[in-house]
Amino acid sequence: MDQKSVLVTGGAGYIGSHTVIELLNANYSVVIIDNLCNSSYEAVRRIEKITGKSVTFYKVDLLDKKAMVEVFKRHPNIGSVIHFAGLKAVGESTKIPLDYYHNNITGTVLLLQAMKENNVKDIIFSSSATVYGDPPIIPIPETCPTGATNPYGRTKHYIENMIRDLCTAEPDWNAGLLRYFNPAGAHPSGILGENPLGIPNNLMPFLAQVAIGRREYLSVFGNDFPTKDGTPIRDYINVVDLAKGHIAALEKLREKPGCVEYNLGTGKGKTVLEMVAAFSKAVGRDLPYKIVGRRAGDVTNLTANPAKANEELKWKAEVSIEESCASLWNWQSKNPNGLEDCPGDAPPESIICYI
Ligand code: UD1
Repeated sequence: MDQKSVLVTGGAGYIGSHTVIELLNANYSVVIIDNLCNSSYEAVRRIEKITGKSVTFYKVDLLDKKAMVEVFKRHPNIGSVIHFAGLKAVGESTKIPLDYYHNNITGTVLLLQAMKENNVKDIIFSSSATVYGDPPIIPIPETCPTGATNPYGRTKHYIENMIRDLCTAEPDWNAGLLRYFNPAGAHPSGILGENPLGIPNNLMPFLAQVAIGRREYLSVFGNDFPTKDGTPIRDYINVVDLAKGHIAALEKLREKPGCVEYNLGTGKGKTVLEMVAAFSKAVGRDLPYKIVGRRAGDVTNLTANPAKANEELKWKAEVSIEESCASLWNWQSKNPNGLEDCPGDAPPESIICYI
């Protein structure tokens, strides 16, 4: 197959690493850049173990434009970019907003400039359902009004707008803006999954750490939302399904569609307590939880309408919640401390750093 290389920023992270596996499975060659600020080089080793293929890795920060340009120069066959790298903790973003704007927005400007200088003009951007804020339409179509409610979400929203403006100004650019709903689960191999450093911010990795005994109980943030059990509804999508959505979007860019947005979700919402029950079933015992007050900024319902992605990308989420819970538990129970305990975590010689 005549496939060009794909540059993946943030390819050692949770969604990034699963996407790299699917790219390799689809016979793309992959170059990863990642500054490893919230990930581990061990993820790259495990990608290679799972696929039996090798990946080129550079420890590069998006703010280091010179290093990014050097990567493009060393790999003139890079034809497109999948851009995951970014800071992603909502709570932290309210405390250090300038760091979020600098890393996520300035980093993306520099990436787009480096792409342009090397005549690479196809990009898939890792956006989020957070751009819908508190949506008036459920399930949410891509045409729903946007407007994020915290600095992290605003960086996603601004980057979407920036890429849209670029595609309007320079019609030879093509972009897929992928709005992820809530990723869940782990790789079925059991050797790769989410590897949160510190206390997990998100529901599923927190629950997994309760199950393995690293946390005493789950705090359920509020049971006074207008839902059947009072807890908020989210659309939990299996991470391998989500990863496959990127391959479908990359194929779409070959049609030169300009700038297109897609919801990557299942279309089915689950409450927090339903997820606690589903994961408890996978673990084989009831997991302890306490109802506490609402978390600032949480909205009642974020459920995707994935019809546009289903039709235009010929892609559909297929893995059930039960399977996601089982793969998460398989990963967490086999790797109680995630990737932290692995020896020799330093990446090999492939480091370029000018800043
Ligand atoms: C969060 C971010 C979202 C981001 C996404 C990235 C917020 C408000 N939103 O989504 O912008 O794109 O992560 O993964 O932070 N919950 C508990 N106890 C916990 C953790 C979560 O009850 O310890 C509940 C939350 O209240 C929510 C649901 O579980 O109702 C899902 O939470 P989470 O996994 O953090 O995802 P989001 O908040 O949907």
